Amino acid sequence: MNRRQFLKSTATTGAGLLILPSGALAGPDAPSNKLNVALIGVWGRSRAHQGAISSENVVALCDVDEKYLAGAAKRFRNARTYVDWRKCLDQKDLDAVICCTADHTHAFVANWAMNRGLHVFCEKPLGNSVEETRVVRATYLKNKDKLATQVGTQRHAIMNFNRVRELVKDGAIGELKQVCAWGDRQIRRSGYLPAKGEPPKHLHYDLWIGPVPFHPYNPGYFSGSPGLNCLNWNMYWDFGSGQVGDMGSHTMDLAWNAIDAGLPTSAEAKGDKFDPEVTPVELEAHFEHPANDWRPAIRVSWYQGGAMPKSPRGYVDLKKIGHGAMFEGSKGILISDFGSRILLPSGDAADMTYYKPRPKEKLIPPLGHFLKEWVNACKGDLKTSCNFDYGGTLIEMMLLGLVAYRVGKKLDYDGATGRVTNSAEGNDLLKRKYRPGWTLNG
Ligand SMILES: NC(=O)c1ccc[n+]([C@@H]2O[C@H](COP(=O)([O-])OP(=O)(O)OC[C@H]3O[C@@H](n4cnc5c(N)ncnc54)[C@H](O)[C@@H]3O)[C@@H](O)[C@H]2O)c1
Repeated sequence: MNRRQFLKSTATTGAGLLILPSGALAGPDAPSNKLNVALIGVWGRSRAHQGAISSENVVALCDVDEKYLAGAAKRFRNARTYVDWRKCLDQKDLDAVICCTADHTHAFVANWAMNRGLHVFCEKPLGNSVEETRVVRATYLKNKDKLATQVGTQRHAIMNFNRVRELVKDGAIGELKQVCAWGDRQIRRSGYLPAKGEPPKHLHYDLWIGPVPFHPYNPGYFSGSPGLNCLNWNMYWDFGSGQVGDMGSHTMDLAWNAIDAGLPTSAEAKGDKFDPEVTPVELEAHFEHPANDWRPAIRVSWYQGGAMPKSPRGYVDLKKIGHGAMFEGSKGILISDFGSRILLPSGDAADMTYYKPRPKEKLIPPLGHFLKEWVNACKGDLKTSCNFDYGGTLIEMMLLGLVAYRVGKKLDYDGATGRVTNSAEGNDLLKRKYRPGWTLNG
């Protein structure tokens, strides 16, 4: 039995108690039940996870910026430090990885980690192209009996997500017809930043660029406050997917959680004039999804950067909801932001007699702490709410929307093979080109 199998069996059977010295902690927090975790990307968003993970063994830290690495090493004194995540993942005692790097390396880190038998928590978005997200999902599905994964969409733990799902599934708006989500974050940039100065000595800029085509250093990519610095690079095609992967990952999750959708059969999109350097600010994308066992075929839409769905009533100003979702059914409409919801029964037929709220004991239980759900899953049943299958299909659809936007026509999509069936250009845009020496699935 290796270390990881041991952790899993002690967490599920309590057998860990047998080997503990007397006086030691028992249960999941016992020293022998702790995960050995690598933090890849240690500043910014990573800091939001460090409190919750500090009860495990943080044994490795990796960051391309040695200044941040030194700061994290003061907190996690027993951890070895790395500037190259590929070397970090070779550390032999690892069980799990938390990846908080820039978007263009997420899929790489996630694949490499899973290929080395490591559980992965990966910040959103899970990938930066349709191909990347498909490869990550396939690697996860191959290993799902061994590994726990979670995409960093922590808003999923807000109770409103469960209440929205219950209302939709239990028929409060009748038969579901269409769903949309939107976000109003607008950050306009005119192109990659011009070369400016030399990278500081503590920053391994070439490793930050990593697999994607080289762009010269400019301090502007690194001048944001912790957890918001992503807004300094995520709108450039090589580094991110703009609001599609940024707030789109969170806000579409509100809809995704309630519709049990897989991959769409089509995608079409329009928005700002295409810019080869910067992703669109204004965009709307529409996807057709087949029926499932509880609802008919539906249309799923994403709006961003000023594009908005039509308001269902003159007195409802959707623009007042910065990031929201709307579910349209045969008998009513449900509008939701992350934390609250309103229901609009429509017309005389919508007397609500057809809707039976579930009894309290049948409510979907709270998820608890989002990162801890994953930690517990690593030690137990491997089940998480936003695993790489759930989160992978969500972001694959969203990124397919960007492909449809670039091609400028409705794309037919075969989710089984991951092919656009009516556009060679669309197929080419599903994947990205990487610099020599970088392998997505290494
Ligand atoms: N879930 C959320 O609510 C939420 C909030 C903010 C950011 N994020 C996500 O977290 C990620 C990081 O965002 P941020 O604002 O912290 O960005 P950032 O630019 O501050 O980067 C975070 C850290 O990762 C390091 N890093 C970058 N590339 C690396 C690499 N290849 N190897 C090792 N270290 C690397 C940076 O030096 C930095 O310390 C983004 O993908 C973003 O989408 C999620």
